[in-house]
Amino acid sequence: MPKKRVLPDAPSLVTVEPAARVEGTLTLPGDKSISHRYAMLTALSRGRKVHIWNYAPGADCQSTLDILRLLGVFNERVPTWVAHHTAGMTAAGASSNGQSAPEEYPTVDAGNTAYINMLGRGPRALLEPPTWLDCGNSGSTMRMMAGVLAAHGFESLLTGDASLSRRPMRRVAVPLTQMGALVLARQGMPPLDIFGSSLRGINFSPEVPSAQVKSAVLLAGLQATGRTTVSEPAPTRDHTERAFRTFNIAFHQEGQSISIDGGQEPFPPERLDIPGDISSAAFWGCAAAALPGSAVELTGVGLNPSRTGWLSVLRRAGDDLTVTETHLANGSEPVGTILVRRGAPKTLTVAPEEVPGVIDELPVLAALATFPGFEIHVTGAIELRGKESDRITALVTGLKAMGAQARELPDGFDVRGTAPIKGGTTVDACHDHRLAMAFAIAALGAREPVSIKGADVVAISYPAFFDALRSISQAQ
Ligand code: S3P
Repeated sequence: MPKKRVLPDAPSLVTVEPAARVEGTLTLPGDKSISHRYAMLTALSRGRKVHIWNYAPGADCQSTLDILRLLGVFNERVPTWVAHHTAGMTAAGASSNGQSAPEEYPTVDAGNTAYINMLGRGPRALLEPPTWLDCGNSGSTMRMMAGVLAAHGFESLLTGDASLSRRPMRRVAVPLTQMGALVLARQGMPPLDIFGSSLRGINFSPEVPSAQVKSAVLLAGLQATGRTTVSEPAPTRDHTERAFRTFNIAFHQEGQSISIDGGQEPFPPERLDIPGDISSAAFWGCAAAALPGSAVELTGVGLNPSRTGWLSVLRRAGDDLTVTETHLANGSEPVGTILVRRGAPKTLTVAPEEVPGVIDELPVLAALATFPGFEIHVTGAIELRGKESDRITALVTGLKAMGAQARELPDGFDVRGTAPIKGGTTVDACHDHRLAMAFAIAALGAREPVSIKGADVVAISYPAFFDALRSISQAQ
């Protein structure tokens, strides 16, 4: 069976052709959320040498590493062939005595990285940066690093690209200022100018459910005097709490309140293993749910219950899912295999209280709803308007351009799949990695190919996305 073509027409224009079905086994890039947290907590561990395996390959997590380097935290990518070599194995292409490098040196880029070497400095022990700190497109970097830096007695300026520069930052500036730092954000948006200080613990109840905000305050609380408590309005992903376990940091949880006593030193194991990113897995799960006769197996993927909401949505819609937990990475993050087979198309339901658990997967669930027989109605998701793009307007605009029936709501959207969408058009990813990938999944069901403008933005979280798409797409 010939594989479908996914043609890169220009660096940032990718044309996706319709597919009959998707089939195959995929491993996923390392989880973005966990990668940021492990890198930051390692930086705050005193003199600990750590190897982080399967660190997320995208540009967002590279922003965190680059910033930590400017703060005096040694880190380097160790390419796969070096890792094999040092493990006494012969890398493909290396000479049999293992002395020389492969004929063509692989670029030390994300795809070739085996692990990251890092050397921690300790809590409140980062160095004053020589310049501003560029977070690129990464909201997680900006918000969580703000928590790390608020406890350091120097000024740091966190900047971002055009998309990040319009995202709300008051939500971290306010609590960190209450703790004793001075955090300035003009009109509540980046850049963030942080004048760090000795911090004191606070009781904080965020207005919006946000794991990034919770984590920023807990990372500041770790370096403060006294106790810091964050009481969430609704549960959000708990990777920071699980990372605390892995880094031997004590904390207390009661319902939706998490408390941490300041003055603790993170103590990580020498080797950290990042599970595959379940948000990246969602693109393939939804593609398999969309196209008749599909079956996709996703291995080594994180199964943290605060991230598996999209699996519940598919299961309720009648898809055939097998989820097998294989182990607990670093004693805290469940990992396993997900097998998705298409069931009969049905309405996808997402209750407003489920939204925080599927916030990053809503674009691809909307893409799934463009397939005949599916539909989705989402409300209570106004947070989507403050993501890498206004994910309500940009998503509905793109899906409609492809010929889908989609409607924007103030805090959500409706999408209904009646007949195959027409395609034969170009849609704009609006500098948003998850939109580029969601549009690609919708395009698999179109009658004509769809070109995605700005598709190279997938490099933010999933640089190999289009290669993976090519490998599992089967021609019509
Ligand atoms: C993230 C939390 C979510 C999510 C983002 C990653 C995290 O953002 O959308 O992609 O790693 O904590 P919010 O906390 O702002 O909802």
